Amino acid sequence: MRTVHTLKELRTMLRGYRQKGKRIALVPTMGNLHEGHISLVRRASETAEIVVTSIFVNPMQFGATEDLDSYPRTLQEDQDALDKAGSTLVFTPSNSEIYPEGLARQTRVVVPEVSEGHCGASRPGHFEGVATVVTMLFNMVQPDVAVFGEKDFQQLAVIRKLTRDLMLPVEIVGAPTIREKDGLAKSSRNGYLSKSERAKAPVIYSTLQAAVEKIRQGRTDFKTIEAEASQALNDAGLRPDYFNIANSVTLKPATPDDADITVLAAAFLGTTRLIDNLSVAR
Ligand code: PAJ
Repeated sequence: MRTVHTLKELRTMLRGYRQKGKRIALVPTMGNLHEGHISLVRRASETAEIVVTSIFVNPMQFGATEDLDSYPRTLQEDQDALDKAGSTLVFTPSNSEIYPEGLARQTRVVVPEVSEGHCGASRPGHFEGVATVVTMLFNMVQPDVAVFGEKDFQQLAVIRKLTRDLMLPVEIVGAPTIREKDGLAKSSRNGYLSKSERAKAPVIYSTLQAAVEKIRQGRTDFKTIEAEASQALNDAGLRPDYFNIANSVTLKPATPDDADITVLAAAFLGTTRLIDNLSVAR
């Protein structure tokens, strides 16, 4: 496995693979890799001979008060894990490689509507930052396929939409959420939790499961189910940011006629904000 830091090196490597007619997959990450990320690399290597994993903590998608500076950077461990998982190439550029003129001068990609609710409502500009860097990564790597986790359900929906709207020739693959034994979705941010916060964290998943069960039983009073779930999160000592029952494609509030519904949640444990979701086909 090779690690490259510049676009020039990346393009040189990729040119060789492309000339040999190899299918190329991209797995974008911000590093501090866990089993969730690694599952995406494995998924990518099932569909393509060449797997490029990018590691870039993208400043554009962090709010002013968010954890950009403290975001864990563990390049050596990440490289070891990626090598074992079958990644061919790691692309880990500097900020100046990606944004040579600085963030303020950077052209941006805005994806309306699907970016607006849920995390988009509590993190203004976040999905603009994600959409911009992912579009740039697609143009830098020019992959045949790119793999993203369903863990970040709204992010996946935003990326599917921008890929269609901008006619980007990339196939988008969504991969299932990898969880701890107690149900907590694996996340780089789980490492911020104190012992007592970690003990409470699986309540997010159990609350999602309870809501999904109510929907499966035929309930369509979605606002009441959302309120019950927020109460359950509060009672367990979490601070819910949102708990929303949505149409899986548009991410707009679900209606009783929707066949494919996703329940999305975000909650604070102390200062750590965790997200999770579960889909229900009816
Ligand atoms: P990051 O949070 O590092 O996540 C990278 C990829 O791993 C995303 O597609 C995310 O959905 C997936 N992932 C994270 N936890 C997962 C889990 N428990 N199970 C399955 N997949 C999981 O998401 C980002 O980085 C950035 O926004 C990025 C897309 C790289 C753009 O900067």
